[in-house]
Amino acid sequence: MAAKKASIVTAEVPGPKSVELGKLKDKYVSKAISIGQPVYIDKASGSLFYDVDGNTFIDMGSGIGVTNVGHAPKEVVAAVKKQAEKFMHTCFMVTPYEGYVRLAEKLAQVAPHPGLSKSAIFNSGAEAVENSVKISRHFTKRPAAFSFVHAFHGRTMLAMALTSKEMPYKAGFGPLPETYKVDFAYCYRCPLNMTYPGCGVACADKIDETWSKPEFQGRVACLVGEPIAGEGGFIVPPKEFYAKITKICKKHGALYVDDEIQTGAGRTGKMWCIQHWSGVEPDILVSGKGIGGGFPISACTGRPEIMDDTQAGGLGGTFGGNPVGCAAALAQFEIIEKSLKNVPKVNAYLTKRLNEMQQKFQVIGDVRGMGAMMAIELVSDRKAKTPAAKEAKATKAAAFKRGMVLLTCGTYDNVIRMHPSMIMPDEILEQAMDILEESLGEATKG
Ligand SMILES: Cc1ncc(COP(=O)(O)O)c(C=O)c1O
Repeated sequence: MAAKKASIVTAEVPGPKSVELGKLKDKYVSKAISIGQPVYIDKASGSLFYDVDGNTFIDMGSGIGVTNVGHAPKEVVAAVKKQAEKFMHTCFMVTPYEGYVRLAEKLAQVAPHPGLSKSAIFNSGAEAVENSVKISRHFTKRPAAFSFVHAFHGRTMLAMALTSKEMPYKAGFGPLPETYKVDFAYCYRCPLNMTYPGCGVACADKIDETWSKPEFQGRVACLVGEPIAGEGGFIVPPKEFYAKITKICKKHGALYVDDEIQTGAGRTGKMWCIQHWSGVEPDILVSGKGIGGGFPISACTGRPEIMDDTQAGGLGGTFGGNPVGCAAALAQFEIIEKSLKNVPKVNAYLTKRLNEMQQKFQVIGDVRGMGAMMAIELVSDRKAKTPAAKEAKATKAAAFKRGMVLLTCGTYDNVIRMHPSMIMPDEILEQAMDILEESLGEATKG
C-alpha cells in the first residue's frame, strides 16, 4: 500500500532508478533545462509524490504553484478522461467547442470585478503575459511596458523582458522589447530605506514621479505586476500599494495588468490575490498555472472594450484553450471554490510553525506570505540582512533527503518558499514543518 506520509526507503536519495534516468537525461535533454530535485516521479496523489524507487515525498512546491488542490483530484481526472474520449483537438479558431466558451464564462464569473468579462485562452503563463502586453499596446497605441524589480513573468521574449532577474533568466538572450523596471514594495529591504507604515507607501509615489518624466509620457501601455512577487521571493506589498499603483496607471492613461499566474486560483485564500485589497481594479487579469490543475492552460481576462479592440485573428494559437485543458480547468475551479475555506487553517499552522522557527534559528530574517503561499527569507546576519543563499540551498537539500520537495526563490536565492496544496491534510502539514525544522537545524549547524 502506498505510504500516507513522507518515507525514504532507498539508502541514498535519489535512488538507483532515478540515477539511471538522470544519466539518460544528461545524454538527451538540453543542459539548459536544469532540475531541482532529481527524483523521477512515478505517481502523484494529493500532497504526495511517489518516485520510481519507492520513496514518498511531501510536495511543498505543487509543481511551482500549480496543483493548488493537490495532485490528480478525482473530479479533474474524470473530466479529462471524459473529454479525451470525445475529442482532444479541433483548434477553437477553426471549429469551436463548448468547453472554451464555458471556461471564458467561468473566468468572468470568478473575476475580481464585473468589468472583467471577456477572455482569450492560451497555453502557458508566459504566453498569456505576452498577449496581455500585445492587447495593452494595441488598445493604448503605446509601445512600452513597466514591470517591477524582483518580478518574474515568464521566459518568452516579452515576458522575459518584463522579468527582473538577469541570471539565469535573461543573460545572453537580448536584445529585448521595450520595458522598464520600477521599484517594488519590498518592505524587508525597502528600496527607499523607509519603514512601513510611516513611509506612507512612498515607493508607489516614487513610481508616479518616474512615470511623470518626459521620456515616459504617452509611451507606456501598461504596468504588469504580480500581487505578491513569486519567484522574486514571495514579497507581499503593503495593503495600500496596489490601490495606489492602479490609480497611477489611470493617471498616466495606461492599463494595469494583474499577473495572477502564481498567486491566483485560490492560492492565497481568495480566488485572486488582488481581492484581499480594496480599491484595486485591474484592466486585464492574467491567469495560468493553478487554473488547469496540471494542464497547460492560461488566460487573459479583461474589460470588453480592451479585449475586443484587437483585430479579429490578432490573438489565438493552435492549442490555445485546448478542449482537455478547458475540461480540466472547469473541474478544477469547482474544487478550488470549495477549498478556499480551508486556506486560513493551512496559513495559521504554517505561520505559527514558521514564527516559532524564527525564534529558534537566527538565520530566518523574515517570515512572510499569504494563505497557502508562505516563505522564509534566510540571512547570515539579521542586522545587515546579508542574504544566506548557501543555507537556503543546504536546507532544501536536507529536506530532500528526508522526503520533502521544497523550492527556493528570491532575487538573492535566499528564500525558501512553500506552496502546499490548499487542502493539505493536517498530519502531512505537520510532518512538513517537522522536516523543515530539522533541515534548518542541519543546514545551519556549526
Ligand atoms: C507570476 C508568474 N508569471 C508568469 C509565469 C510564467 O508562467 P509559465 O511558466 O507557465 O510560462 C510564472 C511562472 O512561474 C509566474 O510565476
